[in-house]
Amino acid sequence: MSHYTFQTRLLHNEHKFDRATGAVSVPIQHASTFHQADFDSFGEYDYSRSGNPTREALETAIAELEGGVRGFAFASGMAAISTAFLLLSKGDHVVVTEDVYGGTFRMVTSVLNRFGIEHTFVDMTDLDAVAKAIQPNTKVIYMETPSNPLLKVTDIDGIVKLARANDCLTFLDNTFLTPYLQRPIEFGVDLVLHSATKFLSGHSDVLAGLAVAKDEELAAKLYTLQNSFGAVLGVQDCWLVLRGLKTLSVRMEQSQKGAAEIAHYLAAHSKVKNVYYPGLADHPGHAIHFRQAAGGGAVLSFELEGEDAVRRFSAAVQIPVFAVSLGAVESILSYPPKMSHAAMPDAERNKRGITNGLLRLSVGLESPDDLIRDFEQAFQK
Ligand SMILES: Cc1ncc(COP(=O)(O)O)c(C=O)c1O
Repeated sequence: MSHYTFQTRLLHNEHKFDRATGAVSVPIQHASTFHQADFDSFGEYDYSRSGNPTREALETAIAELEGGVRGFAFASGMAAISTAFLLLSKGDHVVVTEDVYGGTFRMVTSVLNRFGIEHTFVDMTDLDAVAKAIQPNTKVIYMETPSNPLLKVTDIDGIVKLARANDCLTFLDNTFLTPYLQRPIEFGVDLVLHSATKFLSGHSDVLAGLAVAKDEELAAKLYTLQNSFGAVLGVQDCWLVLRGLKTLSVRMEQSQKGAAEIAHYLAAHSKVKNVYYPGLADHPGHAIHFRQAAGGGAVLSFELEGEDAVRRFSAAVQIPVFAVSLGAVESILSYPPKMSHAAMPDAERNKRGITNGLLRLSVGLESPDDLIRDFEQAFQK
């Protein structure tokens, strides 16, 4: 069915209907264990941590959409990311993009370090800096593009070339764009990671993580880790992500259109110091971004004068929910310094440009005109 467009494949795939019953929704298989005829005969499934048909439906769906060989569903984005890091061993080193998601920063700096896994943070918009950060023991280069919360763009192809020349793997957190807009495996990335809590499920009602491996060798290793660590996604939540996936393209299109309109509005506003959105022609990563992605996405951030201005603006704004998270049907406004990036010490945050005036907006499905009117009344206050 791969001759269909992405939009059609979201609906017309292997799980279009259940082979056993014709049901047009993937059945939720609650069983934790599966009957065996005797101790020598194992069926397709034996125990749900090791394999479950509902989870497998989600895992095959995401693998197909990302263009990888195998997908893995985890209890959260952080469970996917943390399990992927278990591919590393004591004495290994990882090069990480400097404005990485706060939870990933915490995992690298306060958990992996205790197991003897070293790290270096670099500005991944600078390929020379990445090349210099690579050590003989570097095993992974970890990307997030566009990054959270400053929407910096990494040249995926450039990083993959560097990684191959130095015999290391590449991981990429594709949460912000989803495979609808960016498919990193097509550029040679080895492992794609997701907080499926965000756009993939899309309704602020499930925590989930996904990983997709480019090749069988890596997939086999990750499968062993998924089964060993055991942070698998429950079946009800797998079903919710599968349902969210069906509307991914329409949600992304509408939200992205709104984000572009709002980014232009904010960029022209006297009370806004900076707007970070790769869809804006003057974004420093604009050209690279559009070589590797099909759109600017639905997340942007913008900088006001300082914490006081943020406090007044966020108290006056009516439509977006003020919350951590992103990628939902409702617009979500958040304050990275005290929310998604609270795990990052102040000095590290400021060094990265995540200032006390920064707000992040994930645009939902409301009318962009209503959102702009709402923002304007908030600025007036
Ligand atoms: C880019 C990115 N990666 C990973 C995560 C972690 O995902 P989860 O909250 O599902 O564990 C988040 C959460 O906000 C995120 O924004």
